[in-house]
Amino acid sequence: MGDVFASAPFIVGKSEPPPIETDIPAEEALCPVISHDWVNEEYKHLVVAASPKALTVRPGQFFNLLCPSPDAGELWLRRPQSVYRIDDAGGRIEFLYKCVGRGTRGLATLKAGDRLNIVGPLGVGFHLDPSWRNIVVLGRGVGLATLAPISQLAAGCGVGVTAILSARNRDFIMADDLFGEVGTVVPVLDSDRSSDVENVERILLGLIAAKRADAFFTCGSNRLMQLMKRLARQHGIPGQVAMEQVMACGLGPCYVCVRTFEVNGRKELRRVCIEGPVFDLQEAVGW
Ligand SMILES: Cc1cc2nc3c(=O)[nH]c(=O)nc-3n(C[C@H](O)[C@H](O)[C@H](O)COP(=O)(O)OP(=O)(O)OC[C@H]3O[C@@H](n4cnc5c(N)ncnc54)[C@H](O)[C@@H]3O)c2cc1C
Ligand code: FES
Repeated sequence: MGDVFASAPFIVGKSEPPPIETDIPAEEALCPVISHDWVNEEYKHLVVAASPKALTVRPGQFFNLLCPSPDAGELWLRRPQSVYRIDDAGGRIEFLYKCVGRGTRGLATLKAGDRLNIVGPLGVGFHLDPSWRNIVVLGRGVGLATLAPISQLAAGCGVGVTAILSARNRDFIMADDLFGEVGTVVPVLDSDRSSDVENVERILLGLIAAKRADAFFTCGSNRLMQLMKRLARQHGIPGQVAMEQVMACGLGPCYVCVRTFEVNGRKELRRVCIEGPVFDLQEAVGW
């Protein structure tokens, strides 16, 4: 993996970290893999040693990972993955990802001791307003990985969280341990139909009535985002959504990641990698 560098690579734990230049938000680094385990039949949890710059990552930001090829062919382009947990004290960052295609299947082959080439931190993360006392997080699928570090943000600000975690069945509820440390976890499942939009709407209305919904956060499901957007508009609740889009450069110049947004009644094109991935919920358009 070291061969891809034109100049001497920065290897976390081996070479001197480059100085943190605050005007350059991201860096490329080789990070030793600490552990890499399956959490269920589709998702892996990856822990790597991180550079001081990588540890400045904010919840909602992401890294662009150079995944090894899973086969004899070449693998083009990096793959974006949100940070799942930031372990400042341990000098580590964590990812939780679903194996869906060649990139993530290649990523899944990395073993403890191997090195992962990452670029980041990238993009705009989540924001907590100091006046909020209780927030609601609603996510599904890979969205649970992206939302997970809100638990750390909330803990740091003493904000209460209700995390409504949607999944096919119990095996695919993830980040419940992280949210359980700071608030209330409400799993909703396809297997018992508690994930139906009507039921999630009932739960959200109950939280609004109990004044436990100062702000909404969502990721990973178009129908759940549309529900939160409608309720947020009706009840005057601020909201943020982390959007996904296929990416190439991850840095702004290629425009591969453009999505349509609606701002003051006008359609606007924005790049998810640099103007997001976290956007105002009311400006996001479904997919
Ligand atoms: C900002 C951002 C953060 C992300 N964070 C996470 C995360 O924390 N955990 C996680 O599991 N996944 C995350 N993703 C999605 C992840 O990037 C894709 O799953 C991955 O790039 C797929 O690569 P692949 O080569 O394995 O699959 P490919 O062979 O490229 O594609 C396989 C399937 O995945 C879909 N796919 C490809 N890229 C994306 C994408 N960017 N978003 C959604 N679907 C995609 C394709 O349409 C196709 O159906 C994130 C995406 C973005 C943009
Ligand atoms: S991925 Fe290149 S501009 Fe967003």
